[in-house]
Amino acid sequence: MSQIKFYKSEEQVPLEMHKVRVVQKLFLPTVEERVRKINEAGNNTFLLQNRDVYMDMLTDSGVNAMSDNQVAAMFQADDSYAGSETCNRLMKVIKEVFGTEFFLPAHQGRACENILAEAFVKPGDVVPMNYHFTTTKAHITRKGGSVVEVISEKGFVAQSDEPFKGNFDLQKLEALIQEVGPEHVPFVCIEAGTNLIGGQPLSMENMLAVADICRKYGVLSVLDASLLQDNLYFIKTREESCKYMSIKEIMRTICDKMDLIYFSSRKLGFARGGAIVSNNEKLIIRMKEFIPLYEGFLTYGGMEVRSMEAMAVGLLETLDEDIISQGPIFIEHLVKELDAYGVPMILPAGGLGAHINAMEFLEGMPQKQYPAGSLAAALYIAGGIRGMERGTLSEQREPDGTEHFAEMELVRLACPRRVFTLSQIKYCADRVKWLYDNRELIGGLRWIEEPNVLRFFFGRLVPIGDWQDKLAAKFREDFGDSL
Ligand code: F0G
Repeated sequence: MSQIKFYKSEEQVPLEMHKVRVVQKLFLPTVEERVRKINEAGNNTFLLQNRDVYMDMLTDSGVNAMSDNQVAAMFQADDSYAGSETCNRLMKVIKEVFGTEFFLPAHQGRACENILAEAFVKPGDVVPMNYHFTTTKAHITRKGGSVVEVISEKGFVAQSDEPFKGNFDLQKLEALIQEVGPEHVPFVCIEAGTNLIGGQPLSMENMLAVADICRKYGVLSVLDASLLQDNLYFIKTREESCKYMSIKEIMRTICDKMDLIYFSSRKLGFARGGAIVSNNEKLIIRMKEFIPLYEGFLTYGGMEVRSMEAMAVGLLETLDEDIISQGPIFIEHLVKELDAYGVPMILPAGGLGAHINAMEFLEGMPQKQYPAGSLAAALYIAGGIRGMERGTLSEQREPDGTEHFAEMELVRLACPRRVFTLSQIKYCADRVKWLYDNRELIGGLRWIEEPNVLRFFFGRLVPIGDWQDKLAAKFREDFGDSL
């Protein structure tokens, strides 16, 4: 990476390796309006309107800033149902980036998960993962399978200096395959990096070891590469043995070992869409028929052709360390600033976004009042900042209806790449610090509308008591007429 040092700066400042050429105007409603808006949204940040949000830190999915070359490529999209040149260009790039011969297009990451589950998961099957992701698990359970997490214990330690907290516990993985029998394990899903436990990466060594275990037992290895971009950066900068490898070499070394790779291009490749890629034609043939059934013809799979062009360029850009560093270095800056203030953050900083440990931030709040959801609602009130609950609300209830409490209650502040300036990151840190100093004012939430599947997307809650008005009153007291 470009090693740019500052002559006189008290702190290490993340430096943009791009310049802004298109902008979008932002708005920030008053704190009183923010209380009203979050309640109109059922205290669910997914249901807020973007015009009411100053910093949209909900996700990095489909909201990364595109490069000039991506936008330029979109103009040459070849919109034909079959035999499109766009598809040929994308396949060429996929071969170069992943080293894979075969490609199935899908409209986004979860569509790939649907197809994988449809093709491989039978009732009673077990899919080991380092840690589950919401949609991955939902598709596997929908087909009668279950996900068993075999992450290393270190993954659940909120603060440590462990560089790869997303790693599999290899012994647990092997023991699980032996226990349920390889014939009941359709595949092992490697989520690199993890989403729900703070964007924590896996080492290359661990991923390769998982693939070896899969091979030993004749079980398929499936790489969810949706968050691989940040993970590649962490491998390059944190894994001693990979220090001198190029990003492309790291990518190819990992991909060469996997039976199947899928990804959401809303994340990997700064675009939209998704794909399943492999060098194993037989596996591809098992899934192929589902593409025209669920997605679209084999040359576009539900994707818009211009997105496919942007994806091709974005995937190539993923091999550029200057480009993929931008997420992690801004996240690290935010995490370090908040950690220095005493805010309980997930450490070390991972990919995707900064993660606040809501269980500790709101110490004493019972999980049944949803600390992470409450904190996400409070942060919107404090600063018009839209984060995402990654805790119990994001879980599914047990089949008998009892609540499944999450291992971690996190509020994720996603840093979509190249979207926020450093002053906006500083504003976010400032409002989180204020909230931390006023944390005793934050109360819990309860359901008023709870969907059965993926309830966090559109479920609605209300505050327990009038804590939100008290929080807004304190804001006025401290900030005067500031927005
Ligand atoms: N796998 C991982 C690791 C993800 O983070 C996501 C999406 C998916 C699969 C599904 O991809 O959204 O294109 O269908 N994560 C988004 C997020 C939703 O906000 O973290 P998708």
